[in-house]
Amino acid sequence: MTAPTAEILSPDSTGLARAAALLAEGGLVAFPTETVYGLGADARNGTAVAGIYEAKGRPSFNPLIVHVADVEAARRYVEWSDLADRLAGAFWPGPLTLVLPLREGHGISPLVTAGLDTLAVRVPEHPTAHALLAAFGGPVAAPSANPSGRISSTTAGHVLAGLGDRIAAVVDDGPTPVGVESTILGLAPVPTLLRPGGLPAEAIEAMLGEPLQGLTEGGPLTAPGQMTSHYAPAAQVRLNAEAPNEGELYLGFGPMKADLNLSESGDLREAAANLFGHLHALDARALPIAVAPVPNRGLGVAINDRLRRAAAPRD
Ligand code: TXA
Ligand code: MG
Repeated sequence: MTAPTAEILSPDSTGLARAAALLAEGGLVAFPTETVYGLGADARNGTAVAGIYEAKGRPSFNPLIVHVADVEAARRYVEWSDLADRLAGAFWPGPLTLVLPLREGHGISPLVTAGLDTLAVRVPEHPTAHALLAAFGGPVAAPSANPSGRISSTTAGHVLAGLGDRIAAVVDDGPTPVGVESTILGLAPVPTLLRPGGLPAEAIEAMLGEPLQGLTEGGPLTAPGQMTSHYAPAAQVRLNAEAPNEGELYLGFGPMKADLNLSESGDLREAAANLFGHLHALDARALPIAVAPVPNRGLGVAINDRLRRAAAPRD
């Protein structure tokens, strides 16, 4: 890594105002939550969210958790339910993430949900995270603030060591108290443990008065992430197509004639931001889709990973 260029901000009103301003202009800001430091971006800004993947060097797009200040804010983005209300009443703010159906008009970038129609949302308990979310006033997508494949950051020093030359700022408020990621609970429709984490599953079961799905004696049924069903278009997808065949829709990249273009200027961040929205839009036309070659470097690696999954044969 080259020398850190990230601003180091204090968790006071001046520092948080600066952090909120950077988020509003599409910057990446790392901030403490009670679990681990998160690498935040405005969840409505696809290019900013693409920047998260670029900074982390993630070779694939996994759906991200959206952080909000309170239940009222969460309800703007997801279909709320009585069950969600009971869980939030008992455990928010805190290390519990709820996966709920996206609400119409949600405005969240499809890159956040990796094209799924559900959203993972949580209200962190850390006072600095809360103050930042309140100051920003919008939804913040944030995975753990570490380079892909490395351990999560529990101090600002970890964040700077791993990402200091790739992000706008870090809000330094010392070590995070919990140290492991939030527990993720799916609610579609029965409560299902998707990832064990900072809130013990037993505490959730005790509150609900019923066992959680996804728990076996050895732990959750599947490894974290594996239960996430990935969005795949219904249409046939053909990759590395220099031109469309008769009867195919063409998803372009770079200056070319196409039905939709990931990025006419060949910008990989713009392409990542457009990826899921364009696939959905072309898929709705119920014709096979040919995709122009996308260079396999930087964010192109994750773009190609997702395109290969979209093109893989399925039942
Ligand atoms: O404690 C935490 O949760 C930290 C702090 C920063 O809040 N964040 C975090 O985010 O751990 P991340 O990106 O490392 O974990 C997100 C995980 C994904 O790997 C995926 O398994 C799950 O959340 N997830 C997100 N959206 C989902 C969805 N719509 N359906 C199912 N799982 C989802
Ligand atoms: Mg992580």
